[in-house]
Amino acid sequence: MAKKDSTVYFCNECGYESSKWMGQCPACKAWNTFVEEKVDKKILSSSAKRNEAGSKPVSLSQISTDEEEREIIGIEELDRVLGGGIVSGSLTLVGGDPGIGKSTLLLQVCKMLSDKGKEVLYVSGEESLRQIKLRAVRIGQMKDNLKLLCETNLAAIEEVIIKTKPAVAVIDSIQTMYDEEIGSAPGSVSQVREATAVLMRIAKEQGVSVFIVGHVTKEGTVAGPRVLEHMVDTVLYFEGDRHASYRILRAVKNRFGSTNEIGVFEMKNDGLNQVINPSEFMLNGKPLNSSGSIVSCSMEGTRPILIEIQALVSRTSFGFPRRQSAGSDTNRLNLLMAVLEKRLDMPLSDQDAYVNIAGGIKISEPAIDLGIVMAIVSSYRNKAIDDKTIAFGEVGLSGEVRAVSQAGARVSEAKKLGFETCIVPFGCIDSLKDIKGIKIIGVKNIAQAIEAI
Ligand code: TYD
Ligand code: MG
Repeated sequence: MAKKDSTVYFCNECGYESSKWMGQCPACKAWNTFVEEKVDKKILSSSAKRNEAGSKPVSLSQISTDEEEREIIGIEELDRVLGGGIVSGSLTLVGGDPGIGKSTLLLQVCKMLSDKGKEVLYVSGEESLRQIKLRAVRIGQMKDNLKLLCETNLAAIEEVIIKTKPAVAVIDSIQTMYDEEIGSAPGSVSQVREATAVLMRIAKEQGVSVFIVGHVTKEGTVAGPRVLEHMVDTVLYFEGDRHASYRILRAVKNRFGSTNEIGVFEMKNDGLNQVINPSEFMLNGKPLNSSGSIVSCSMEGTRPILIEIQALVSRTSFGFPRRQSAGSDTNRLNLLMAVLEKRLDMPLSDQDAYVNIAGGIKISEPAIDLGIVMAIVSSYRNKAIDDKTIAFGEVGLSGEVRAVSQAGARVSEAKKLGFETCIVPFGCIDSLKDIKGIKIIGVKNIAQAIEAI
């Protein structure tokens, strides 16, 4: 380490460090991801500095657990995604496309907490105080214990946090923050990594819960190294169609809760409003009596969400047919088409097939397989399925319909929204005995399911 300022190459994907440029990262095998940065090698990363202070091992019994207090924000959709409120001293990363509502959501969090008398600090490196004020006016009246700060220097931010001791601090965004000791520009791999380490230390030392806004790249991951996601306690992603007004907040990683939960919001004139009943919202605008459309149910965490599956099957005009799906896996669609062709003798090899989950929500649960199959058959035969029918179940390669978890919750949700018939896997029938007032048809394979309609 003779030279003070040396040039280092970082992998943009995983943060791998190398002294020379490489075409492929040896760690994550990504191509063309190395960027050049000047780094002062003498500076230890701030987390390393802290360890030198001396560490003492403790036994588990010495640690009291009642310290993990949670602060309920009061925005139910967000509290649930966080696993029941903010854990004090935790670091949460909020990522999402530009303009999706990250700053708005966090300002609303600040408002809710300051209304409860908490000290809150909102640090912006992107907008002026006036711009934040304009946004705040749309959201509502703010109390004086919400303090705003326009700053990008981490040392100055740390000073303010130590002096004002807020319960929650918001850093908007991590890509604009810089540590003076690091030579490279804000937003570069080493800056983002270092800035996060500094914020992590502040959060744990001062017991401040910190929210970090992170920009995303074209590919949809948080810009800067993947290590950012490894370092923080919780990673939340905002997704949703740019053209639709609703937004889905999904936990990708959560050290203090489950990662299955989603929160649904709608962007309105006064900020993000919670959508308490997403099923109703997703089914809004479903065409009546139209072929190729059926409602299915997906479990998102503890909550069942009804969704409309649409399929369009039409004769191909090319050499080989197009298969396209929006909101579900295209490979899965190919597989289900093959099952239909083989098990039901449906000549689909000269048919294009398009599948769409209405509303733009992304579903990865195989429980919607049966819905997709029935939508395809309905479109192919050009026969509409009864509007008051829902179907769910996983479809296997031999055309069997397999049981799925939490069938009871799914059927209850359908009943609540006025559906009259449920087509469910036969294996789930036993667990549904107690549900009255809705017709339940158990099917063993896709042929039976199609007969049922
Ligand atoms: P913003 O929170 O600035 O997005 P991000 O920080 O993720 O980039 O959201 C900005 C968008 O939200 C912008 O297009 C305007 C819209 N918006 C509303 O529709 N209603 C509102 O009350 C607010 C504050 C913003
Ligand atoms: Mg913003």
